[in-house]
Amino acid sequence: MAEVIWGLATSHVPSIGAAMDRGKTEDPYWKPLFDGYRPAREWMAQHTPDVAIVVYNDHANGVDLDIVPTFGIGTADRYRVADEGFGRRPVPDVVGHPELSLHLLESLMDDGFDLTVFQELDVDHGLTVPLSIFCPDPGEAWPCPVVPLMVNVIQYPQPTAARCLALGRSIGRALETFHPDTKVAIFGTGGMSHQLAGARAGFINPDFDAMFLEAIETDPEKLAALSREDYIREAGSEGIEMIMWLIMRGAMNEQIRRVHSTYHVPASNTAAALALFDNRVPR
Ligand code: DHB
Ligand code: FE
Repeated sequence: MAEVIWGLATSHVPSIGAAMDRGKTEDPYWKPLFDGYRPAREWMAQHTPDVAIVVYNDHANGVDLDIVPTFGIGTADRYRVADEGFGRRPVPDVVGHPELSLHLLESLMDDGFDLTVFQELDVDHGLTVPLSIFCPDPGEAWPCPVVPLMVNVIQYPQPTAARCLALGRSIGRALETFHPDTKVAIFGTGGMSHQLAGARAGFINPDFDAMFLEAIETDPEKLAALSREDYIREAGSEGIEMIMWLIMRGAMNEQIRRVHSTYHVPASNTAAALALFDNRVPR
């Protein structure tokens, strides 16, 4: 069977990518954030997967807002980096893994998750910024191919947190019947608390974030029991992105080991966090 070797939960704030692209990571504003990533980056560089499943949301860049699939999967052999209005980021296009995409599609469908299929997809900061956090200097190519798994977190009604955890568990089961010895990393992206518009613009909730950072490791069921209204009230209208971390968590073992985590406020108007988990805990 294929094996999830690690899971990375990380914010995907676009300005984190812009800071890297423009060489600003040592500036006083950015240095503390990037210093916080270092131990995780070193560990991931020593544990390169064969393929990464990146659970992310599009922000009306790859897909117009008149089509909002609840869950979608990319099946292409290549994904272009989206132009979000400032030109494409100067990072490599993303190489796909159609074989794993199609295996997941079939297995998840059979398990009751009716995914929308993207045979063509431009990937926005929701996916490319986490790749940059994983690998700051990709050169000509990212370290491994990617399966993009897209989630609607931007338009009501978003999937429930419980449904996200269940989807993750279904991914875990699907991997049991994929090629043996395939090492898989899974990314849960977005969050933590933030709200970009409206009366509560700039809202950040460190207490909720701390609870979530702890429970994602030790008690994901507690997070799965929260409603979408709970997420939006406690973490802001865009903080609901955190439900995507539950998909990552569901694909991992009950017992995981935290390799490193970091929390930094603010990156733009967002509480930026990273939590890296080793899935290969001796049992
Ligand atoms: C911003 C955008 C995001 O998609 C996000 O998750 C956090 C912050 C922003 O534009 O600042
Ligand atoms: Fe976002």
